[in-house]
Amino acid sequence: MSSDRSFARLPGFRDFVPGEFALRHRIFSTWRRVSRSYGFQEYDGPPLEPLALYVEKSGAEIVEQLYNFRDKGGRDVALRPEMTPSLARILAIHSRQTPKPIRWFSIPQLFRYERSQRGRLREHFQLNVDIVGEAGVAADAEVLAVAIDSVRGLGLKESDFVARVNDRRLVAEIMLGLGIPASLHTACLVVVDKAGRAGRTKTCDALREIGVPAGAVETVAELVDDGSLANVRRLFANHRPVLAALEPLEEHRTILYAMGLGGFVEFDFTVVRGLAYYTGIVFELFDRAGELRAICGGGRYDRLLELVGGEPLPAVGFGMGDVVLGELLRDRGLAPRTAPSCDYFMIWVQAEQRATALDAAHRLREAGRSVMYTYRPQAVGKQLRQAARCGAATAVIIGPDEAAAGAATIRDLATGSQQTLSLESLLTQRAVP
Ligand code: HAM
Repeated sequence: MSSDRSFARLPGFRDFVPGEFALRHRIFSTWRRVSRSYGFQEYDGPPLEPLALYVEKSGAEIVEQLYNFRDKGGRDVALRPEMTPSLARILAIHSRQTPKPIRWFSIPQLFRYERSQRGRLREHFQLNVDIVGEAGVAADAEVLAVAIDSVRGLGLKESDFVARVNDRRLVAEIMLGLGIPASLHTACLVVVDKAGRAGRTKTCDALREIGVPAGAVETVAELVDDGSLANVRRLFANHRPVLAALEPLEEHRTILYAMGLGGFVEFDFTVVRGLAYYTGIVFELFDRAGELRAICGGGRYDRLLELVGGEPLPAVGFGMGDVVLGELLRDRGLAPRTAPSCDYFMIWVQAEQRATALDAAHRLREAGRSVMYTYRPQAVGKQLRQAARCGAATAVIIGPDEAAAGAATIRDLATGSQQTLSLESLLTQRAVP
């Protein structure tokens, strides 16, 4: 451990110095405000879980990215790479005593050993919003509405981002309609999930490689090129099971339009989601410019709770990361200003006034104000300069005359205007709510 480099931050991890913490705080407080406005309750679990919770439940991609090790008690454990398996495990204990539908949200820090790139790190915070115990499409629409409002609440607009929606049941009907056997569906979903990045030629090659019949490869490729609802209807105009599978999506759309959020939602055949457990409507949020990875992903997962030994309950939810969202907010100039600030800076002229000033400072803090002061004896001019550096709005100056009169000179640091106030009236100003 001799060179400084041994103490470099690990790749893919972040420090949050106050400037960066301000953005994180803005994102978290908006997520909490919006989730609570829909009546969701906050929960959390441990960051370390049994490794077995993720094997098979999350799908191969996430398992390859696990931070896992054997603990000193010989248990195979992993840092949580996502929250959904933990939620399923927690509900296996608590769901029977909890009124349905269960509507919970959480903001866990998650860990995935990914190749770091723009929008993808090895740790991130993720808003998780889930409804458990409701199979109807109204729940699917509501979680998507929470996702959209969580991004809108940060100042982003319809011109900035879009929710792309699909339904795995529809994709299954399309695959069956094309003669792709059910045994190939999972492998086929993996290829379609990557199609946006891979392009048509590579996607067709991959489909052929897993054994998809030649005629079907062409139609899937057409849907990858134009994944719109109109194209699905055109290609399957006479195929009843496919048309029937469109019904939940139509109801979903109707609800989101009624909420005034229809303009944020588009159908996209290529959105199938990488994770193994989804069973119905799935969605992802993207920046409209298409420059960044997904902001958010989610969908219905009706069998996961049973898989981890819990009550067989239908469920739907999403995860929204802070990394891509942060990039987008910075790009649009919507990150908060981060200059330091406080309400009052106490200044004492001589050591004799220090006790009076400290007492006043403490009482102001108890009334909800933020107060700072110097730690060392200093001339008034120096203390005033420090007050400005601290971003204080007001200096409270106590000298021998003020102390004798039970008063203070109050100086507005923006305008320089001054007045003398009795300490009592300063301290009894209405508390900040
Ligand atoms: P996910 O698609 O793996 O879904 O992740 C959701 C979101 O988390 C992504 O859209 C992205 O914003 C963010 N994210 C994921 N990995 C990273 C990373 N390495 N760096 C930065 N951000 C990342 C899930 O995790 C599901 N469990 C979501 C869910 C909840 N489904 C139902 N309920």
